[in-house]
Amino acid sequence: MSPVIPKKLHMITWGCQMNVYDSGRMEDVLAPLGYAPTLAPEGADMVILNTCHIRDKAAEKVFSELGRLRLLKLEREAAGGKMILAVAGCVAQAEGAEILARAPYVDIVLGPQTYHRLPEMVARASRAGGAVIETDFPAEQKFDFLPDAAAPQGVTAFLTIQEGCDKFCSFCVVPYTRGAEASRPAADVIAEARRLVGQAAREITLLGQNVNAWHGAGARGLGELVRRLAEIDGLARIRYTTSHPRDMDDDLIAAHAEVPALMPFLHLPVQSGSDRILAAMNRKHTADDYRALVAKLRAARADLALSSDFIVGHPGETEKDFEATMQLIRDIGFAQAFSFKYSPRPGTPAAGAGQQVPEAEKDQRIYAVQALLREQQTAFNARCLGLTVPVLVTGPGRHDGQIGGRSPWLQPVHTIGPVSLTGSVVPMKITATHPNSLTATLEQERACA
Ligand code: SAH
Ligand code: SF4
Ligand code: F3S
Repeated sequence: MSPVIPKKLHMITWGCQMNVYDSGRMEDVLAPLGYAPTLAPEGADMVILNTCHIRDKAAEKVFSELGRLRLLKLEREAAGGKMILAVAGCVAQAEGAEILARAPYVDIVLGPQTYHRLPEMVARASRAGGAVIETDFPAEQKFDFLPDAAAPQGVTAFLTIQEGCDKFCSFCVVPYTRGAEASRPAADVIAEARRLVGQAAREITLLGQNVNAWHGAGARGLGELVRRLAEIDGLARIRYTTSHPRDMDDDLIAAHAEVPALMPFLHLPVQSGSDRILAAMNRKHTADDYRALVAKLRAARADLALSSDFIVGHPGETEKDFEATMQLIRDIGFAQAFSFKYSPRPGTPAAGAGQQVPEAEKDQRIYAVQALLREQQTAFNARCLGLTVPVLVTGPGRHDGQIGGRSPWLQPVHTIGPVSLTGSVVPMKITATHPNSLTATLEQERACA
């Protein structure tokens, strides 16, 4: 066997947490070839741009970044070196051919389902002779071929348990870029969770484009999977994201009542509060279905905090529809939420629909919805003042002597304390609240979990 020559790999990651997880797995799969992560693209032997296609001018953003990377590639070649340039992720999946046509200096284009084949693509690209493109949805599951040995993620870790989506919401590219829903078997998920805990993870966030639609072999559903994961020694906290309201079954709701490690925070996108628009979006639930679901969840776990995603200006959305969204937000009360102006995505049904909402109206609506959500988030944080809450310490804070961590409700918490508490769940008293974070003092320097 020829010796492995050390090489530098620079990863640029855009998009959702699943892309963050995937970037880590691409690093893992390339490690045996000698590639070690490096923070800067200058001097890298390989650069991977892991892209997102969800909104806005996704492709334009990719081409402008590629233009910048091309200069570095040329510089490296002028110095007698080589830099492999790869484009991964959802833009690669959706617009692979166009990427190679417009940026012929790109060596590899690979879709999210083909990361396990990366070493072979690198070998092909290194032999020169044209670009490599892999954007089919292979019959094999990439997870079965990715290495078990993964680089440690730290105190908080991501674990993808489900991929893809069959829901086809009118506005969304995900079913086209990530393919059909597929779930990993429970045994694989549990084995990976054990490895992460062995590498210092205390909190694991289970990921999936429709994570609560998980239906892998070996457990009845996500509720049972969560209960099994909660038995892992040393795993203090479990979260999952992103969920669809339609897939929130009774067993999962019961898990929120019964499993202390399952954190009282749920990201449950509703998108709109208007039944007319929800129907046009193909969401298959009404605003009242969502209200009833939240009531059920809160009955199971009284301190459950909610987060959501909202789209304003979906085709056909009137001022009255928008007001229904504002009313739903007032009725529920969110701890935090994301809101977006509708952005037409090529190939999706809504992009070709009539009654596109003028940009100026979208601007007004996004301004109003964000003001209300900000107000609710600030109020939610303010209610924590004076409480003592268990905080998972994740590491040093921004300033000297400071440490940072997370509350059960995902709020960032800062305090003065020793870095040695990293990885412990520590009671902290909240002394000040801010729109995006909390300040605390250590209640006692002793772990409570
Ligand atoms: N699987 C998740 C969401 C994935 S995309 C779910 O079903 O909720 C993350 C968020 O991006 C969506 O919840 C939606 O609010 C937003 N989004 C998706 N497509 C969009 C588009 N075309 N324009 C604006 N926002 C969009
Ligand atoms: Fe997109 Fe809808 Fe699937 Fe979520 S459920 S990923 S919004 S199509
Ligand atoms: Fe973006 Fe693909 Fe995630 S489009 S949000 S990177 S699934």
